Amino acid sequence: MDSFYELAKNRRSIRKYLDKPVEREKIDSILRTALMSPASKRANGWEFIVVDDREKLVKLSQCRDFGSKFVAEAPMAIVVAYDPEKSDVWFEDASIAATFIQLAAEDLGLGSCWVQVYKRHYNETTTSEDYIKDLLGIPATLRVLNMITIGYKDEERKPYDEAKLLYDKLHYNQF
Ligand SMILES: Cc1cc2nc3c(=O)[nH]c(=O)nc-3n(C[C@H](O)[C@H](O)[C@H](O)COP(=O)(O)O)c2cc1C
Repeated sequence: MDSFYELAKNRRSIRKYLDKPVEREKIDSILRTALMSPASKRANGWEFIVVDDREKLVKLSQCRDFGSKFVAEAPMAIVVAYDPEKSDVWFEDASIAATFIQLAAEDLGLGSCWVQVYKRHYNETTTSEDYIKDLLGIPATLRVLNMITIGYKDEERKPYDEAKLLYDKLHYNQF
């Protein structure tokens, strides 16, 4: 991949992975990238929980009734949590870190997918956040934004077609 533009064009959500663990150096590099993500007032309120334990991945996959099943078979996931006491814009900080994680994974030849946790429900009485906090021992005061599955790709996704980009969303000087 020779430019950021090409990386952005080729990055697609990958939900099927080879049965091959992600090397420790690659995981470390992705995590260091997350720690370099911009944060409002440099609050750094995020926490990243790496999960590669199969039983826990299966349980994580059950945090919602749809949209998360493939987590059960992913080699690993990074759960992005945040201490809302550290920033009034925790959602933005956590989302930027999550995006950096996805782009870092792509840059290393890995596929990834964002799985939404915040605002989703495990069942009628329990949020997906509370279910995951309980599962992973995350302090109750933290928020859980998402989890990002990462692994070697076992599906082909077409890059973005530049001819089909929504150019009518672009405005100059005035809407
Ligand atoms: C905020 C957000 C939440 C998402 N939640 C899920 C999810 O819960 N499950 C899932 O499979 N994909 C999820 N995705 C991935 C999107 O479905 C995907 O990015 C979108 O369809 C565009 O496809 P692409 O990533 O291949 O370009 C989410 C993406 C974002 C940015």
